[in-house]
Amino acid sequence: MTHSPPSAARFLDACFGRPVDRPPVWMMRQAGRYLPEYREVRRTLSFLDLCRTPEAAVEVSLQPFRRFGPDAVIFFSDILVAVAAMGARVEFGDAGPELPEPVRSASDVALLKRFDPSSAVAFTGEILGLLRREVGERAAVLGFAGAPWTLASYLVEGGGSKSFAVIKQMMGRDPETLRRLLELLADVVGDLLSFQIESGATAVQLFDTWAGELSLQDYREWALPAAARAVARIRRDGAPVILYVNGCGHLLEAMAESGADVLSVDWRVPLSQARRRVPGKALQGNLDPGVLLGTPARVAERTRAMVAETGGRAHVVNLGHGVLPSTPVESVEAFFDAVKGGPVSRTEVEATLKADS
Ligand code: CP3
Repeated sequence: MTHSPPSAARFLDACFGRPVDRPPVWMMRQAGRYLPEYREVRRTLSFLDLCRTPEAAVEVSLQPFRRFGPDAVIFFSDILVAVAAMGARVEFGDAGPELPEPVRSASDVALLKRFDPSSAVAFTGEILGLLRREVGERAAVLGFAGAPWTLASYLVEGGGSKSFAVIKQMMGRDPETLRRLLELLADVVGDLLSFQIESGATAVQLFDTWAGELSLQDYREWALPAAARAVARIRRDGAPVILYVNGCGHLLEAMAESGADVLSVDWRVPLSQARRRVPGKALQGNLDPGVLLGTPARVAERTRAMVAETGGRAHVVNLGHGVLPSTPVESVEAFFDAVKGGPVSRTEVEATLKADS
């Protein structure tokens, strides 16, 4: 079998619904702990130091590109880097992110800053510029940000949550404060994604990971207008916008009103059903990351079946959420190979990287 090399043009064509030779493929959280070379870098640098050190962040972003040759390289960072730049304290422990001074009142919101990304997160621009130089047209370079609702839920809850009880309490008892926070976050996200595109990102993804916790009514009232405000503020310069929501089965039609070009869906919704419900939108997804814990043969079979749901048209192949840290590298290889039509030679990807540098 021959394999087709990665391509930024193929990625953009799929996002805009144009014909492609095969669907593009990448993987959420493709740079991370399932890779031994990532764990090696993390022995010497804390997570936040890694996000803030351009050479190291570029190296880690390129690790999956060298191994698998995805059609998109997402820059290494975290959605909470923006929240830290607004003045909130953010700590990354083994149990996930923690914000020891949560936002609970109007005066807490007033302390958060709308910042200038070119000074407050200049390292982000540097990482994207370096990545774009490294990969050239061989892959899209993806910028990203948390969507306002998801960022607000970390700020208000003080970390991850199962019930979202604190932010839902604010929704019901102090709606003006929540509204003000979401508007501020929408403006911050718009500034940030515009800066990422100016710095070299060819496409951007908004992660509204926790918006699936809302009823359709509350999604329309709270998360959607804030995401739409952020999308409207992005100076796109041709870059498509992808919107991801985990647990989005009840929200697809509403998500299509956000202004995003591509809807990234979790594994609970069959893509054939998503296509019927939002026919004009390109789709991204949606293999269950849990499938990658199985054998490579099973991964290949499930991946092909997933691509068959869209016929590979207007489809950016991905997982339905981030790859799990315990995933075997061989299963990730099987996922990429199943889309690309054959194994990718590592030396070939390295040779093209060298040729352009
Ligand atoms: O490869 C990529 O996709 C780029 C890097 C990336 C990270 N986080 C690196 C990371 C991206 C796009 C994110 C987004 C992010 N961060 C989201 C939205 C996407 C999603 O997965 O739902 C959310 C909700 C966060 C917040 C966050 N950051 C959590 C909940 C955690 C802890 C859970 C976990 O997986 O450990 C993080 C830490 C984090 N972000 C790690 C990585 C590689 C692990 C840090 C480590 O090395 O220990």
